[in-house]
Amino acid sequence: MSESALWREAARRLFPGGVNSPVRSFRSVGGEPFVAVRGERGRVWDADGREYVDFIGAFGPHILGHAPPAVVQAIAEVAEQGTAFGALTPHEVELGRRISEATGLERLRFVNSGTEATMTAIRLARAATGRNVIVKFDGCYHGHADGLLVRGGSGLSTFGLSDSAGVPEAIAQLTAVLPFNDADALKGWFDAHGEETAAVIVEPVAGNMGLVPPREEFLEVLRRIPRRHGALLIADEVITGFRLRYGLSGLLPEADLVCLGKVIGGGLPIGAFGGRADLMDLLAPSGPVYQAGTLAGNPLAMAAGIAVLDALATGEPYRRAEQLARHLENGLETAVRRAAVPASVVRVGSMLTLFFRAQPPANFAEAKECDTAAFARFHRAMFDAGVLLPPSQFETWFVSAAHTEADIDQAVTAAHRALLELHAGSE
Ligand SMILES: Cc1ncc(COP(=O)(O)O)c(C=O)c1O
Repeated sequence: MSESALWREAARRLFPGGVNSPVRSFRSVGGEPFVAVRGERGRVWDADGREYVDFIGAFGPHILGHAPPAVVQAIAEVAEQGTAFGALTPHEVELGRRISEATGLERLRFVNSGTEATMTAIRLARAATGRNVIVKFDGCYHGHADGLLVRGGSGLSTFGLSDSAGVPEAIAQLTAVLPFNDADALKGWFDAHGEETAAVIVEPVAGNMGLVPPREEFLEVLRRIPRRHGALLIADEVITGFRLRYGLSGLLPEADLVCLGKVIGGGLPIGAFGGRADLMDLLAPSGPVYQAGTLAGNPLAMAAGIAVLDALATGEPYRRAEQLARHLENGLETAVRRAAVPASVVRVGSMLTLFFRAQPPANFAEAKECDTAAFARFHRAMFDAGVLLPPSQFETWFVSAAHTEADIDQAVTAAHRALLELHAGSE
C-alpha cells in the first residue's frame, strides 16, 4: 500500500468520509482524497513524494503560492511571542488598518472563517432592518450556516428548501433563492417582497458554481433595488477580496456589508466582515447583536495576513498572477479548439474554470448542464500528468503569482493530451 493510501485508510476510520471538508474527498471526480505533505510556490507534493502543479491553492488563499518566505517568517516570529491571548493585540490593529484603508470599510470584525463572516453579517442585517427574509442566488456559496444552506424551490415558490439534512424548513423558508445574473427575477422579488427583505447576499463574481462573472445589468439592479426597499446589500468577497486587486473587487461599491476571508489570512483560519460604523456598532459590546470568538483576531492569522497584504500592496503579484492565468486561459482555449470538445474557458483575473459546456454558463442551472463525467475524466488525466485541479466542475482554479511559466506549460500540454483523449473516447 502506498503512503497516501495508508493515510487515507487511517483517516477513513477517524473522519466522516475520511476528510474534514467534503470536497476533499474527490468523490465528484471519482477519485480518492489527495494527501498533501508539502507545498512550495505553485507546487504540492503528496505523501508518496509525487509532485504536482497545484491549481487548488487551498481553495483561494494562496495568491502568493505555498509557503512564501515572508509569510512563514512572520508566522514564526509571532508564534515565539505567544499564539493566543484572548486579548486585543497590535497585530489585529495592523491588519485591520490595512484592510480598512484598502477597502474603505469604516469598521470591521475578525472571525475565524468565511462562514462566520456571512452568518454574522446576516444576523446584523436582520437586526438593522427588523426584517427576517434573506435573498441569495442559486449556485452562490456563502459557507454552511443553516440559513444559507438553502436551494431554490420549484415552480412559483422562490422561498428556499433546505439543502442539507438538519436544516429546518422553517429556517430555509426565510431564505429566498433567485437565479444569479437575472436582473428581472431580482426586481420581481423586490416588487412582491421588498418590505420583508432584510438583505441580499451575493458573490460579486460567483466562484462556487465554477467561475461565473456577473452581467452588468444584474450588478446595476443589485446596486439600486435592495436599497430602495430598505434592504441591505451584503457582498460576499471571501474569494474575490484582495484576490482580484488590492482591496475589494470594485463591482459592488454600494454594499452595506462586506465579507472577507481566504487571501487576507495567508492560509491561516480567518474571516472578517465590515461596513459603515453605524451598522457595525450594532455589534456587541457596542450594540445588541451578539457575536464572539475565542481565537478571533488570532496573532498567527493576523501576522500571515499582514505579510500577504504587504506583498500584494505593490500590485506586482496581481499583474504576475493574471499574466500567468491569461497564458493558461489561452493554452486551454487552443486545446479545446484542437480537440473539438464542447468546452469553454472562463477567466477573471487569476481565477479560471474550464467548463465542459460549449457556452460559458451564466447561472447555476446552466452550469449544471456541464458534462461532469467528462470533467471527471479530464481531472483524472490531468492528475496523472502531475496537475492538481480542484476536484469538481463547480470549483474555481486559482493561479498564484508564484506559479512559473513552466508550471503553466506543463498544465497546457497535459490539457491538450487529456482533451484529445476525451475526444477520441467520445467517437
Ligand atoms: C464566497 C464564499 N463565501 C464564504 C465561504 C465560507 O468560507 P469558510 O470555508 O472559510 O467558512 C466560502 C468558502 O469557500 C466562499 O467561497
